[in-house]
Amino acid sequence: MQALPGFRDFLPDDCSARNYIFARWREIARRYGFVEWDGPVLEPTELYKKKSGAEIVDQLFNFIDKGEREVALRPELTPSLARVVAAHEREFKKPLKWFSIGQFFRYEKQQRGRLREHFQLNCDMIGEANLAADIELVALCIDILRAFGFTEKDFVVRISDRDFWTDFLREKDVSADRWDELLQAIDKSGRESRETTAQKLGALAEPIFSILQGGGKSQKLDNLVDGLRERGLAGYVAIDVGIVRGLAYYTGIVFEVFDRAGKFRAIAGGGRYDNLIAQLSDGSVSMSALGFAMGDVVLGELVNDTPRAREAMENAIANNRKIDVYVVIAKEQRRGDALAQIQQFRDRGYRVDYPLTSEKVGKQFQTAEQLGARVAVLFGDEWPWVKTKTLASREELLIDNHELQSHIERVLSRSS
Ligand code: HAM
Repeated sequence: MQALPGFRDFLPDDCSARNYIFARWREIARRYGFVEWDGPVLEPTELYKKKSGAEIVDQLFNFIDKGEREVALRPELTPSLARVVAAHEREFKKPLKWFSIGQFFRYEKQQRGRLREHFQLNCDMIGEANLAADIELVALCIDILRAFGFTEKDFVVRISDRDFWTDFLREKDVSADRWDELLQAIDKSGRESRETTAQKLGALAEPIFSILQGGGKSQKLDNLVDGLRERGLAGYVAIDVGIVRGLAYYTGIVFEVFDRAGKFRAIAGGGRYDNLIAQLSDGSVSMSALGFAMGDVVLGELVNDTPRAREAMENAIANNRKIDVYVVIAKEQRRGDALAQIQQFRDRGYRVDYPLTSEKVGKQFQTAEQLGARVAVLFGDEWPWVKTKTLASREELLIDNHELQSHIERVLSRSS
């Protein structure tokens, strides 16, 4: 039996890498004053049909449940967030700054950087229309990637503005019901042949191609970059009006993050969706909103591909795995005495391991080294004294077993 295509098993090393990613995500989101929340993994299919757009609806993992409801595994968090915020709007002070880490499911063709399940960090702000919020959000996204050891040489945030395109379409007298389809064509233009895009754009093909080639001008985007420049972060961003985003609900600033070398798919993406809450609540609650999501798959690939980031991850994982104390049982008669001390160590919060069955002393010390123990404690002929060995310095001491707990506490607080 194998896992389904596009689904991963997480062996201990994979779980360590995943936890490392989650820890950085959580740490930096909190640094920006975001609080954690989560929604259900299964939602009514209708939630996504309403506003996410055709691309996501095609990729839904959906089925009819035993109560005859049409349900779908969540492909993204934003519609759930809009639903929850509309229901609980009065309970929270605005702007809301919420983050979430969870698993998402899309029935996509499995390929490099795209699986059928992935984890995302979502960071969203609700109830703030000012550009200051867009700047703060992009800064957060940049700082999260910097926390992995990436620099402006490794990644770039490509920023655009849907208003730039909707203003253009309005100027060209294109009726609003065609905007979605044209925006999708512009979004795909980087990945599709010029002929296919030209066909979709019709008479607008030439002017749009020339904007895409020459770059557009937008005061709002310039202001956004200025805001990031004040923080010393302008080197991480580039204005690129070719970024439109596939999801249908975006209304203003949109952005996507890519590796500079262009080897991988998008690391993160997001933007403003000022109408979604009103649309999903049938107009009963209206609030401006913006956010982004960063996936674990491409991020993991980039970490592995960037020596500095990879080393930082490996060191963090190795340190996190280390145990504090390894108890060596040299004489089986002392096992009971050893276990009494082990229990006390663990009650104090130390990470402790020992051999479950009789083993040669040399092998036990080897295990202590492999587990990265800081101290080994040997229970043997010396009883009621025990031998302690600080593994880094090789320093050995004989300690009265009644003094052991306080001695170890001193040694560990010194070396931590
Ligand atoms: P998205 O661009 O669809 O945006 O996804 C965000 C990130 O999730 C992508 O940049 C990518 O790293 C990762 N991702 C998406 N699909 C897959 C997949 N099949 N396999 C692996 N990784 C994947 C959203 O989901 C929006 N809801 C983000 C947002 C939050 N907008 C506002 N708030």
